[in-house]
Amino acid sequence: MSSTPQLLFKNRIPGKTAFLKEYCKTGGYSALVKALKTMSPAEIVQLVKSSGLRGRGGAGFSTGLKWSFFPSDKPAPKYLVCNCDEMEPGTYKDGELLAADPHQLVEGMVLSAYALNVDEGYIFIRYAYEGQFKNLQKAVAEAKKAGYLGKNILGSGFDFELHLHGSAGRYILGEETALLNGLEGKRPNPRIKPPFPAERGLFGRPTTVNNVETLANIPHIINGGSEWFKGLARNPEGAGTKLFGLSGHLNVTECFELPVGIPLSEIVEVYGGGVWKSRKFKACLPGGASTPYLTAEHMDIPLDFDTLAAVGSRFGTAGVTVFDDKTCMVAVTLNLLQFFARESCGWCTPCRDGLPLVCWLLEKIEKGQGTMGDLEMLKEQYRHIGGRSFCALAEGAMGPLDGLMRLFEQEVIDHIEKGHCPF
Ligand SMILES: Cc1cc2nc3c(=O)[nH]c(=O)nc-3n(C[C@H](O)[C@H](O)[C@H](O)COP(=O)(O)O)c2cc1C
Repeated sequence: MSSTPQLLFKNRIPGKTAFLKEYCKTGGYSALVKALKTMSPAEIVQLVKSSGLRGRGGAGFSTGLKWSFFPSDKPAPKYLVCNCDEMEPGTYKDGELLAADPHQLVEGMVLSAYALNVDEGYIFIRYAYEGQFKNLQKAVAEAKKAGYLGKNILGSGFDFELHLHGSAGRYILGEETALLNGLEGKRPNPRIKPPFPAERGLFGRPTTVNNVETLANIPHIINGGSEWFKGLARNPEGAGTKLFGLSGHLNVTECFELPVGIPLSEIVEVYGGGVWKSRKFKACLPGGASTPYLTAEHMDIPLDFDTLAAVGSRFGTAGVTVFDDKTCMVAVTLNLLQFFARESCGWCTPCRDGLPLVCWLLEKIEKGQGTMGDLEMLKEQYRHIGGRSFCALAEGAMGPLDGLMRLFEQEVIDHIEKGHCPF
């Protein structure tokens, strides 16, 4: 096991949470002191841009580039919103981070707010993360008392207020514009874009939404610099470390901080301890439930945004769920699609009506009652659902279906021809 520098999990001790004393002992809030004393907001935006940091919430958009579109010069109020909805099956990294070290997010948010000239922030937290919510309540109170949050932070003249908001608990609330509606107390349907949140976001004001892990990286980039951050990745195209949440048919299912660009084989064999029950690797979701499968042929490719896109998948949230060779991929895909169909907000037709239809077809095939006509209809639905909905929920739901059609079509045909599930 090669040792990866631990940034985000530096203070992680199983069963314990690092609060202010422990956080400061390992350099916590030194980035804030440095930034407020020596850096202009524009310099921070430029540093984050050149660090190569890409959003850790799933889409992988360049954080610095997104920030550079933000209208910092508009008058207050402007908002920074942290997305800790994290309800996608197989994704649990933000929860792990906040269970271990909540001040990292608080410092990351104050720094980001300073960079964007934002005066107010919200952390939107998954309803099931009760412990993490309490950790953040304590961290926010400690940071305020120590002068790292609130009015005139560290005597710099910069003010930033931070609020916590517990989600009512739906997957759609992770979509950034649905989240903003939820924060406003409205039904969480996604909003039409444009206008983008940077122009008209929370309460109609300029807003940036970023993921927990994205924001928690900011203090480290400020302390270490952009070249250092880039160099943490295993491959030249990548940047930084990544929290990989392992799950499924592995001997070890834990969350690890590992370099971006690490090959899948190392995740499975070294960190995951190999496939369970001495079985063989069949497939995995590389980045959460909405990403197309990888198979054994992808074992040696570096896990990063561009490489995975080039092989028809996505890095997503780096929640790696492994399936052994006794797994029925039709059943797995059905299970995932049932989740997406249940969580659709119903706002647009392809998602509301298309996903249940896909589930019905997959269920028929899985039970051995499908026909070749059903397979054709599945392919047809796949073409009509992706890219035609208000938000990326339906597009994401097409990820595993796309993987099934491209990589496991013969398995689907076997179900139809044999009249039963072959597994
Ligand atoms: C259905 C759906 C669910 C999402 N869930 C999350 C989530 O739980 N956490 C998250 O950070 N981003 C989630 N996203 C992505 C957000 O819309 C947004 O891109 C992200 O919060 C931006 O932060 P980043 O640039 O730091 O990644 C979701 C998107 C969709 C379409």
